Amino acid sequence: DWTPASILDDAIAAVRAQVGDKRVICGLSGGVDSAVAAALVQRAVGDQLTCVFVDHGLLRAGEAEQVERDFVAATGVDLVVADAADQFLDALAGVTDPETKRKIIGREFIRTFEAAARGVVERAGEADGGDVEFLVQGTLYPDVVESGGGEGAANIKSHHNVGGLPDDLQFALVEPLRTLFKDEVRAVGLELGLPPAIVWRHPFPGPGLAIRIIGEVTRDRLEILRAADAVARAELTAAGLDRDVWQFPVVLLADVRSVGVQGDGRTYGHPVVLRPVTSEDAMTADWSRLPYEVLESISTRITNEVREVNRVVVDITSKPPGTIEWE
Ligand code: XMP
Repeated sequence: DWTPASILDDAIAAVRAQVGDKRVICGLSGGVDSAVAAALVQRAVGDQLTCVFVDHGLLRAGEAEQVERDFVAATGVDLVVADAADQFLDALAGVTDPETKRKIIGREFIRTFEAAARGVVERAGEADGGDVEFLVQGTLYPDVVESGGGEGAANIKSHHNVGGLPDDLQFALVEPLRTLFKDEVRAVGLELGLPPAIVWRHPFPGPGLAIRIIGEVTRDRLEILRAADAVARAELTAAGLDRDVWQFPVVLLADVRSVGVQGDGRTYGHPVVLRPVTSEDAMTADWSRLPYEVLESISTRITNEVREVNRVVVDITSKPPGTIEWE
């Protein structure tokens, strides 16, 4: 008889058996899978677990706080935050090509995670000579099937799809979600007492807002996009439609300007694109038929509240031919 509670009990017992009294490290991305995996391992082995959150400065409004404050409050987890926003933005300066953005972000992510992981390992050694032997990964059953089901060496597959850790940082993997589908992971997350905002979070790409700013990524542009995105998400939530939509990218066409009239005069501002989609697995997708009233309130609020945006457009392309993200 499988209930979220019984799945959780079994998974906790398995983690305890695997880990024993060794130390464990886990990277948090802000996403559901790593959050549930970390909360589960925390429930199993308590403060033998240290989580690392690389804040790359490319998350949406409130998301870093969701990890640093809400996740910690809900789980009591020991969290190390690597605040790397400046480093990522410096590395992204002048870059407009989407794949180059991804490569740079992947590279900086690994660097930063590695340095933080080394810090955790050293700290554990100084404290009591305890070894950090395990790395938690939020691998789900569909990921296992997709990758051929092999055990593989520890690598940060995470959301950046980039390579492994260096040889002197070898961890065995703890993958407590390996037999679960997404809906089961969410049920287990709720069972663990995680906030609904984390459990029901839409998928979000590892490179974050960097691939939703068409053009160079700058602090100012991030601020504009964050503000517009926050409005779109708030209105979707207020309409009770979060779970009818798979993802809702908001895209800033940072190098495009058009003429508008806002307030007292003419403006020459940027458009944002709303890209709400429905999907089963992100391989194919359809554009969401959001109610006109919801689109209207998003458009009105964004153009009122985000000075730099004077036009809101809706992407009505299915996938294929359009991808979900614009980059
Ligand atoms: P596309 O845009 O190809 O996206 O239709 C399919 C799904 O993948 C996500 N996505 C990414 N996720 N790193 C990620 O971790 C990436 O570089 C990346 N690019 C796209 C996208 O949000 C959607 O869920």
